[in-house]
Amino acid sequence: MQNVSALRVDAGAPAQFPVPANCYAETVVSVKHYTDRLFSFRITRPQAFRFRSGEFVMIGLPNAEKPVFRAYSIASPSWDDEIEFFSIKVLDGPLTSHLQKIQPGDTVLMRQKSTGTLVLDALMPGKRLFLISTGTGIAPFASVARDPETYEKFEQVILTHTCRDHLELAYGEELLARVNDDPLIGEMAAGRLSLYSSTTREITPRMGRITRLIESGKLYADLGVAPLDPTTDRVMICGSMHMLKDVKELVESLGFTEGSNAKPAEFVVERAFVG
Ligand code: A2P
Repeated sequence: MQNVSALRVDAGAPAQFPVPANCYAETVVSVKHYTDRLFSFRITRPQAFRFRSGEFVMIGLPNAEKPVFRAYSIASPSWDDEIEFFSIKVLDGPLTSHLQKIQPGDTVLMRQKSTGTLVLDALMPGKRLFLISTGTGIAPFASVARDPETYEKFEQVILTHTCRDHLELAYGEELLARVNDDPLIGEMAAGRLSLYSSTTREITPRMGRITRLIESGKLYADLGVAPLDPTTDRVMICGSMHMLKDVKELVESLGFTEGSNAKPAEFVVERAFVG
């Protein structure tokens, strides 16, 4: 059985723990801290690991005999040779309190099987794809927005990201720049992917919860697009429990029905995970 070293054991030799069954032990390639609440990191990708853009996977640290695992949306697209995650930092979170300290060269455990509903397969064909996110809920959409299949299936992709303050919007802004700079996806997404960000606590040029921006029609007016319509549009939603409930109710009131892998329909939801 493979053993891996725990992180940052100050005195003596690092403790060794076995890699749990059905887990990959991968190496941290890079870490980027955005704020005192948010960071992203990239790990090596196991050769055999396959996933669909938008799915999540369980990750943990090799710091105990029975490590704590939490669900993390994969933020990188399925063609990428590394795996990217975007995470919240919770001071006393059983995983994130340790995970936020990782550095390049450290080991992260990742369970071998990914799953999730924020996948193109769970949506019926349509013309426009709305990706509605708050906070770290943007992570699965960072994957979907970089997948060529998204642009094969949809004419227009509108990604919304709402956070408390403007520094928390940086990951989404960088994502857009990375899409535009990518030789393959940049060309496919040109003029078809828009990012619509807003803040709710810090005063910025565009403020408001996404529910209000949709209900008031401001989202449509700002982007110069037609209102959400279940005959042409598909919606993916990812954020906190309250956000999911409110956005789900809103799109249902507009006539959208919820889909799943087993029964594709007009919108899908998934909780942005914290831990
Ligand atoms: P608000 O500042 O008004 O709570 P968090 O960081 O707490 O997960 O929140 C991320 C963003 O989601 C914040 O801008 C927050 O707005 C917003 N938000 C929280 N609850 C809802 C909800 N029920 N519907 C829409 N947006 C929400």
